[in-house]
Amino acid sequence: MTSPDSTAVSCHGIRKSFGTGDTKIDVLRGIHFEAHRGEMTFLVGPSGCGKTTLISVIAGLLDPSEGKVSIFGQQLAKMTSRDQILFRRKNLGFVFQQYNLLPALTAAENAAVPLLAAGVNRSTAVKRSKEILDRLGMASRADNYPRTLSGGQQQRVALARALVHEPRLIICDEPTAALDHKSGESVMELLATSAVHPDRAVVVVTHDNRVFHFADRITHMEDGIITHTEQNPKLQAA
Ligand SMILES: Nc1ncnc2c1ncn2[C@@H]1O[C@H](COP(=O)(O)OP(=O)(O)O)[C@@H](O)[C@H]1O
Ligand SMILES: [Mg+2]
Repeated sequence: MTSPDSTAVSCHGIRKSFGTGDTKIDVLRGIHFEAHRGEMTFLVGPSGCGKTTLISVIAGLLDPSEGKVSIFGQQLAKMTSRDQILFRRKNLGFVFQQYNLLPALTAAENAAVPLLAAGVNRSTAVKRSKEILDRLGMASRADNYPRTLSGGQQQRVALARALVHEPRLIICDEPTAALDHKSGESVMELLATSAVHPDRAVVVVTHDNRVFHFADRITHMEDGIITHTEQNPKLQAA
């Protein structure tokens, strides 16, 4: 059994509806979900079941209609909006399904944004972001603008941006969807390295069963609820 203080993310009774009256849809219908420190947790389920909505609620980008989310024991909902922003900036790396890169910045500058926002000087920030791009096989593309990069390359820039400030919680939405097998593996290896840290956690939404072996835990979601969670057999044996 894992002790309660090993919890990185805790969701209790999360409900989220969009719209009102006849057009109201209940996307999250009472979610209980946990992710643990030192682990990579996969969230899997069919398209439209609410995965992106759930991780947006976890990251504090969407307010739930009901329920409670804690990240490392702290409830974002109880913080002032300024404290929420500071907490997210420091503790959270988020990779969106649609990469959200800034078109006027190069790959290395895009990936350096969280460091620049934290006040790190430009040359140090870009140097650090280039190191991560290098590990993702993107060294030769660091000075390219997003429009000159393929989908898979933009995906890796978005990932570098989520990792560059070494956040304690990394949340990725379909990070390998646009990647070939080899690039997908190197992305997962980098994420797994981040998750090994005892005070950090990684949550990955994915359909990609080629990378399931990287998961410490796989949580299955269907139609707005969590159906079951499997632990990696390696962990169960430990
Ligand atoms: N802002 C929104 N307004 C209305 N419906 C939404 C909104 N965001 C998501 N949905 C709906 O919620 C359901 C779940 O979406 P999503 O969380 O993106 O699923 P997944 O990531 O599992 O594919 C879908 O039916 C989607 O159309
Ligand atoms: Mg989605």
